[in-house]
Amino acid sequence: MRKLLITGGAGFIGSHVVRRFVKQYPNDQIFNLDKLTYAGNLENLKDIDQSGNYHFIKGDITDTAFIQSLFETHQFDGVIHLAAESHVDRSISNPMEFVLTNVIGTVNLLNAARQIWKTAEGKRFYHVSTDEVYGQLGHEGKFVETTPYDPNSPYSASKASSDHFVRAYHHTYGLPVVISNCSNNYGSHHFPEKLIPLMINNILQKKPLPVYGKGENVRDWLFVEDHATAIDVIFHQGQLGDTYNIGGNNEWKNIDLVKHLCRLMDQKLNRAEGESEQLITYVTDRAGHDFRYAIDSSKLMSELHWKPSVTFEQGLEKTVDWYLANQEWLNHVTSGAYQQYYQNMYSNRS
Ligand code: NAD
Ligand code: TYD
Repeated sequence: MRKLLITGGAGFIGSHVVRRFVKQYPNDQIFNLDKLTYAGNLENLKDIDQSGNYHFIKGDITDTAFIQSLFETHQFDGVIHLAAESHVDRSISNPMEFVLTNVIGTVNLLNAARQIWKTAEGKRFYHVSTDEVYGQLGHEGKFVETTPYDPNSPYSASKASSDHFVRAYHHTYGLPVVISNCSNNYGSHHFPEKLIPLMINNILQKKPLPVYGKGENVRDWLFVEDHATAIDVIFHQGQLGDTYNIGGNNEWKNIDLVKHLCRLMDQKLNRAEGESEQLITYVTDRAGHDFRYAIDSSKLMSELHWKPSVTFEQGLEKTVDWYLANQEWLNHVTSGAYQQYYQNMYSNRS
């Protein structure tokens, strides 16, 4: 029996990873450590939270004494670290929160793992990271694992820093680590501050659809369940000390994606063709907005034989269907503090 710690398991991607590991590995004990910030929600895991191999721990990865005693008590065999502040716009308003959680929090976990793991045998520290550490691309090319780091936002700078610490602990102390850098995810349980769920929510509410700048920026989208599968494969089979890029080979200009979503939702909601598109509103661009991200995941595909299971059309339809069937979830997460967030973020943009 192995004990695995998953941090940030109540968040968007973390909840899909926890669900996968709880179901796929009934002989492993899965511990979900989460602070339950605005982005963490135990409702995301209500379908598996009665499973015998699932345990929830509420706690903060920046609390050094707590993290050390947690590792001493449970003697985890593996760590999959996803807990983070994850939204670029919030990092622009409040960068220090990102330094604390993403950098200090990660180093706390690395120190605790280093203290309890006397040998690397059977142990693994997996850091889940982003392609945004590589900076931005022009019209051509893709990020590969050897692309130099060149982060532009406070969010990507904090993730780049944490990646460097993870690698340094491998090089300096021999800590058994692996890192992945993934492109933009979409899917169920995605907090409606990010592009796709924000647009879905606003289309439902018939609210303006705020497109930054001219909507020409490009993102490479991956279905979240395919990210969870990739994490499973890399955690179990990835080379220690290595990095793997994960992406869906699925680039969209923001404006094309928003229009596509409008068409899909008009059909689902029996609205007139073109109705939701009229809600599109071009607003002031994000400061330092990265132009384009695109991931080359051929290393992961050829070495570990991973591939995405759905096309973008299938994944997006599943996602929209989930939001339509779970409007109560959407109502919960958009009540209270979200209203203030939305007001602050969007009121002076138009
Ligand atoms: P999210 O914001 O939905 O969830 C983050 C989770 O971390 C939440 O449950 C939150 O409560 C928890 N958390 C935050 N601070 C904490 C702290 N101090 N202690 C303990 N828990 C804390 O994020 P996400 O989109 O699911 O991203 C998860 C990870 O994947 C992040 O590390 C992110 O950088 C990375 N990533 C995200 C994407 C994406 O498209 N969303 C793409 C590539 C990589
Ligand atoms: P986001 O989902 O925040 O992810 P990231 O910035 O990490 O890539 O944004 C995706 C793209 O959508 C990005 O180019 C910014 C843009 N965007 C909008 O145009 N309007 C919005 O309201 C949001 C949240 C994002």
